[in-house]
Amino acid sequence: MRAASYARYGGPEVVEIAEVPAPEPGPGEIRVRVHAASVGAADSAARSGTPWFARLAFGLRRPTHTVLGSDFAGIVDAVGDGVTRFDVGDRVFGATGASLGAHAEHLLVAESGAVASLPEGVGMTDAAALCDGGLTALPFLRDGARVQAGMRVLVNGASGSVGAAAVQLAKQFGAEVTAVCGPAHVELATALGADRVLDHTRTDFTREREGFDVIFDAVGKSSFRGSRRALVPGGTYLTTVPSGAIMLQQLTSRLGRRRAVIMFTGLRPDADKAPDLEQLAALAASGAVRPPIEREVALDDVATAHRIVDTGHKAGSVILRIVRAEVAA
Ligand SMILES: NC(=O)c1ccc[n+]([C@@H]2O[C@H](COP(=O)([O-])OP(=O)(O)OC[C@H]3O[C@@H](n4cnc5c(N)ncnc54)[C@H](OP(=O)(O)O)[C@@H]3O)[C@@H](O)[C@H]2O)c1
Repeated sequence: MRAASYARYGGPEVVEIAEVPAPEPGPGEIRVRVHAASVGAADSAARSGTPWFARLAFGLRRPTHTVLGSDFAGIVDAVGDGVTRFDVGDRVFGATGASLGAHAEHLLVAESGAVASLPEGVGMTDAAALCDGGLTALPFLRDGARVQAGMRVLVNGASGSVGAAAVQLAKQFGAEVTAVCGPAHVELATALGADRVLDHTRTDFTREREGFDVIFDAVGKSSFRGSRRALVPGGTYLTTVPSGAIMLQQLTSRLGRRRAVIMFTGLRPDADKAPDLEQLAALAASGAVRPPIEREVALDDVATAHRIVDTGHKAGSVILRIVRAEVAA
């Protein structure tokens, strides 16, 4: 099978298409013919080995897993002994987490893993994108901030994959949503359902005193310290990007009137991710959540996909089309 593989840390050019043996499913495993997979910030960190702490997860001197990609959608084409949840021909989607491997024609997944059936009406591209943003935004909003109807939620980086999912999911929770993005993406943020859109090149949201119950910085461009006064007493600041400061503030803010929260959603147990996939699939099937797609790129152009991600200004997800859309089911 063909896979996008890399052997050393570096720029987009280190990822090349290689011919590798197709894996055979063992007991309890399914093999997925991957149709679409997202290329995101985690792939960029794993590819470049930056920031430095990424190497603690992906290999100190060189990458441990040579095929990137976590979020996938495809069709089961072989099952191992004892598999009861899926059959050959089932449409599925999911996330492999830190074990990666989705930027390839075939992928092995435990049937008990973070994988779910894909409802008719949800395409492969949308399904891969749903995992990219939704599987992060959902636990942040639901578990990190306990968003409820009527809360005022601000999403910074609302046009990225996590931020776009956060805007749509916060609306589903019944929140009043303020989206923050650059001038090129104001229209997109409005289309996602935001009640108000702020252009971060013109407006500093941190100046809005006690304006929000929840501030979700989906791209980690702000700080708890700078944003604190924009929260109501009892409010929650969430960020996706780790730093020494936020790790400390997560502990110390428990004593204060406004909480700081960092989560590592990719490291959650598969048993927690699987029901979230089902929930996201149902929301996508009903049309309530529709992830924006910056670009679909063929597997051969994987380096282009990495270049787009590295700009830090994509709108929604970049998707690798491993089976061409017109061939795919
Ligand atoms: N902690 C976790 O569990 C976890 C899980 C998943 C992802 N992450 C992290 O979450 C971050 C976001 O991921 P993503 O995939 O959503 O990123 P992304 O899609 O690359 O985000 C791109 C968006 O960020 C916006 N942006 C850039 N600079 C901004 C600024 N100064 N203010 C406001 N918006 C700005 C851009 O909007 P404009 O072009 O309009 O400016 C662009 O649309 C990454 O760092 C990723 O590593 C963490």
